[in-house]
Amino acid sequence: MKLGVPKELKEREKRVALSPEIVGKLTKAGFQISIENEAGISSYFINAMYEAAGATIVTDKNSIYTQSDVIIKVNAPASEEIALMKKDAVLISFMWAAANPAITEACKKQGISAFSVDAIPRISRAQKMDALSSQANLSGYKAVLLCANEAGKIFPMLMTAAGTIKPCKVMIMGAGVAGLQAIATAKRLGAVVEVSDIRPETKEQVQSLGGKFIEVKGDESIKIEGGYVKAVSEDFLKKQQELIAKHIKEADIVITTALIPGKKAPVLVTEEMVKSMRLGSVILDMAVEQGGNVVGSEMNKTITKHGVTIIGESNLPSLLPLNASELYARNIFEFLTHLATKDGFKWELEEEITKGALIVNGKN
Ligand code: NAI
Repeated sequence: MKLGVPKELKEREKRVALSPEIVGKLTKAGFQISIENEAGISSYFINAMYEAAGATIVTDKNSIYTQSDVIIKVNAPASEEIALMKKDAVLISFMWAAANPAITEACKKQGISAFSVDAIPRISRAQKMDALSSQANLSGYKAVLLCANEAGKIFPMLMTAAGTIKPCKVMIMGAGVAGLQAIATAKRLGAVVEVSDIRPETKEQVQSLGGKFIEVKGDESIKIEGGYVKAVSEDFLKKQQELIAKHIKEADIVITTALIPGKKAPVLVTEEMVKSMRLGSVILDMAVEQGGNVVGSEMNKTITKHGVTIIGESNLPSLLPLNASELYARNIFEFLTHLATKDGFKWELEEEITKGALIVNGKN
């Protein structure tokens, strides 16, 4: 089976879908691999590393699409990429299909099958394939570093001959994969960390990382399914806002990661709250691409409002391209070898991981 990895087209994207390490493993398993010329350069993987691992470097971009049985990408494909793929080929990538119906349509039209890695279910068996988690984990780390860099103060308590500096207060909203890594990173840097989440089971996880959990009494409107919040009422969000307002006022840094899958991100930080913060405080809105948890945050911009810096970086994993590509490639290896051998695909439609991730089945 021929696997093809094109260079990512998305602006500011530095990741690549396969690393030389994984190319080596796949070649050993009998797959043939083509990598577009310099596809890995921004992740510090040069052509020679891929060649040494057994891949062929291809300079004609189009032929990657027209010749491969499987196209492996990081970002959702553009329609012109899909249009080049051969019938019955398979596409594996982030696709956010619910928000991107045009991709599903284009795949159907082209007669290809498509697996969207963001739809791989978050179950124990699929943890090794969970690209959403591997990328969110790195993002939580990088979010803290970006904030630390913008802040005019240090994180740890410092006792000096000139007196004591108080530790930085970091508030993290949402203790999922990204949030938990952000807590751990901020603690390692010496901050005092407060956390808010609406899933009660996160309290123990937060505390085990040394964070202080701010508890908002849950109500019946909160619906949790498969570990995800599915719904929450406006009333509840208002109650939550009232409680967290006074914590935000005291915080030097606020990182928001709250997400309800398939829905617009809930607004957690209002303009009033931003106004209430000290001059020089920093907010990073990780949910900026889904509409934002922070009123006024702007995608891919760092702005200042009421003396507070608001960061709206939408592609944090790409700021750590080496590790992000390494982990993504390992996720892809596990997923691909779950579905296929060198001789072809063997997926079963009723199997939970396949069923979750298969957005278009070209075999029908
Ligand atoms: P996750 O689903 O693991 O975590 C989200 C958390 O938010 C859950 O624990 C959930 O209970 C919590 N939550 C939902 N509503 C809340 C509310 N009203 N108040 C407090 N907590 C609430 O998601 P993950 O993987 O940690 O990603 C978090 C967010 O970061 C998502 O919006 C994701 O799209 C985004 N993201 C952004 C990146 C970037 O580059 N900016 C990179 C990776 C993820």
